[in-house]
Amino acid sequence: MEKHISPSILACDILHLEEAIRKVERSGADYVHIDIMDGVFVPNISFGMPIVSAVRKITELTLDVHLMIVEPWKYIETFAKCGADILTLHYEALPEKQIPDILRAIRQNGMKVALSVKPKTEVSVLFPYLELLDMILIMTVEPGFGGQKYIPESADKIATLHREIQRQGLPIHIQVDGGINASTIRDASDAGANVFVLGTAFFTDPSFDANQTIKELNA
Ligand code: DX5
Ligand code: ZN
Repeated sequence: MEKHISPSILACDILHLEEAIRKVERSGADYVHIDIMDGVFVPNISFGMPIVSAVRKITELTLDVHLMIVEPWKYIETFAKCGADILTLHYEALPEKQIPDILRAIRQNGMKVALSVKPKTEVSVLFPYLELLDMILIMTVEPGFGGQKYIPESADKIATLHREIQRQGLPIHIQVDGGINASTIRDASDAGANVFVLGTAFFTDPSFDANQTIKELNA
């Protein structure tokens, strides 16, 4: 499966958001990752709808919107109107019985459908929903903050999910988010991930070459 990077604007200079988006475009990335945090599901507050709409107005990049909020189903239509292309909800924020309906609602609103699991949640909890999903986000740090260290045990989880997706022959992307840099990206990619979120490495490490990294991953 083709490998993509999804730079996270959580790590950019927000006063120069447009420049950050142009940097993403120049890098050869085709996604941009927008972290929505509510201070309840995670102990931090980041961006809301106006940022998604503002980014939508200036780019054709795939807007990869990661909701770290409680009751995320209430905002599906709103994020679709703001221009989100992929909507990721956390499994931990959803009432189990409503998951199929919630996932269908995301698709009916014209967006790609994704679920995420936090580091302590087994990935097998998502197996009953694979047919309704376009992407699964395996958090490789505790969600809430950029700049944390990649959890090495993530590789097993990625491999377990990758095996199940292969077994069922489904075209589901595996995304990883948290502590991804020039070295951890290899580990996650070898385990089977194909969409890589990078905040700190992409926006603050001058030695990180996104274009080269994408080429190497797809070689
Ligand atoms: C963390 C966010 C990430 C964050 C990653 O909860 O979901 O998207 O921006 O940042 P880095 O790449 O710095 O770990
Ligand atoms: Zn994220």
